[in-house]
Amino acid sequence: MRTDLDFELLGQTVQNLYGFKQGEMMSAIVHVGEQLGLFAALAETGPATSAELAEHTGLHERWVREWLHAVAAADLAFHDDGRFAITPEAHAALVDADHPAAMLGVFGPPITHREIDRTLEAFRTGIGMTWNEHGEHTCHFQAAMGAAGQKAWLVPVILDSFDGLTQRLADGATVVDIGCGAGVAATEIARAFPGSTVIGIDPSDHAIAAAAGRAADAGIENLTFREGTFDDLPGVGPIDVLLTLDVLHDLPHPGAAIRAARGALADDGVWIVADIKTRGGLEDNRKIPVLPLMYSMSILYCMSSAMSEPDGAGLGTLGLTEEVLADLADAAGFGSCEPRTFDVDPLNRYFELRP
Ligand SMILES: C[S@@+](CC[C@H](N)C(=O)[O-])C[C@H]1O[C@@H](n2cnc3c(N)ncnc32)[C@H](O)[C@@H]1O
Repeated sequence: MRTDLDFELLGQTVQNLYGFKQGEMMSAIVHVGEQLGLFAALAETGPATSAELAEHTGLHERWVREWLHAVAAADLAFHDDGRFAITPEAHAALVDADHPAAMLGVFGPPITHREIDRTLEAFRTGIGMTWNEHGEHTCHFQAAMGAAGQKAWLVPVILDSFDGLTQRLADGATVVDIGCGAGVAATEIARAFPGSTVIGIDPSDHAIAAAAGRAADAGIENLTFREGTFDDLPGVGPIDVLLTLDVLHDLPHPGAAIRAARGALADDGVWIVADIKTRGGLEDNRKIPVLPLMYSMSILYCMSSAMSEPDGAGLGTLGLTEEVLADLADAAGFGSCEPRTFDVDPLNRYFELRP
C-alpha cells in the first residue's frame, strides 16, 4: 500500500471531504426548506423573486433569499435574473409525495449531538443504540427512505411475484409485519387487501405511535399496530404471511428471531424477508453506488442496533448475506430460503422462506 503523498490525490481527497461536509450542511438546508414549506411554496408560485416567495410564505425575505441561493447552487432550483423556480426533478423528489422518487422526510432532522456522544460511548463499551433510543424523529426519516418505493411497488410488483400470494391475501390471511417501523408497508398491504388482518409489530414506541397515526389517517380498519419483538410472534401465530423488511441485520440475536418466526408461521405459511443486497466483504460491496452512506448508516443506526445488547451479532447494514440467512434459516428448521431480486428495488434482496 502506497505511503508517499500524491498532491493530485490530496486535492481530490480534500474535495471529497468537503463534499461530505457540504452534504451535512445541505441536508440541514433541505430539511429547513421542507419544515418551512419552502419547496412546496416555490412549486405553487412558479418563478418567483425572494420577495415574492417571502410574501407567499410569510417568512423574512433576507433568510428566504439566502435559502434560494443555497438550493439554486445545489441545482435544486433554476435561477434567472433574480427569479427562482424549482426544477422538475426536485419537485418529484421533494414536493410530490406520491412520486416513486419522493424523498420527503429523508433529510432530517440531522443527527444530534446526543446521538454522536452516544456513538462515541458505544465505540468504548461495545453497546450500541436501539432504533428507538435515537428519538422520535428517527422512525420518520427511516420510513421516508423506503416509503416511496414501498407505496409504488411492494404490493403490485414484489408481493405479486410470489406464487399464489396475491390470491391468498385477497382471500383473507393473517399477515404480520414484524419490525414494521412507522408502518408504511403494513398500511399498503392492509389497504390493498381488506379481507386480510394485518398486524404491525415493532419494539419502538415512537415507530408504533407514528404507524398508528398513519393507519388512523388512512381510516383502515383491518390494520393494528402493537409494541413487541420477534419474541412476541408465538402469541400472534399461526401466521399465514410474515414480512420482515430491512430488520434482520439490525437484530442483536438474529438466530433467535428466525427461530421465533419459524415457530409462529403456519405450516403452509410464507415469510418474505427483504434485506440490503450486500455482497459480503468491503471490496465486493464497492459496486454499491452509495457505499459510504451504507457503512456510515450502519455505524450510526444498523450495526449500532445489532450491538445494542451484550453479545450482539452486530451484522449491520451490509452483514446479512445470502449465505448467512440461508444458514440461520436452515438451523431454525425452514425447508427453503429462496433469494430473488427486483429491478424496481436495486438496494434490497428478497427471500421467500417456507417451513
Ligand atoms: C430499518 S428499520 C425497518 C422498518 C420497516 N420495516 C421499514 O421497512 O421501513 C428496522 C426496525 O426494526 C425494529 N426492530 C429492532 N429490533 C427488533 C426486534 N427485536 N424485533 C422486531 N423489530 C425490531 C426497529 O425498531 C426498527 O423499526
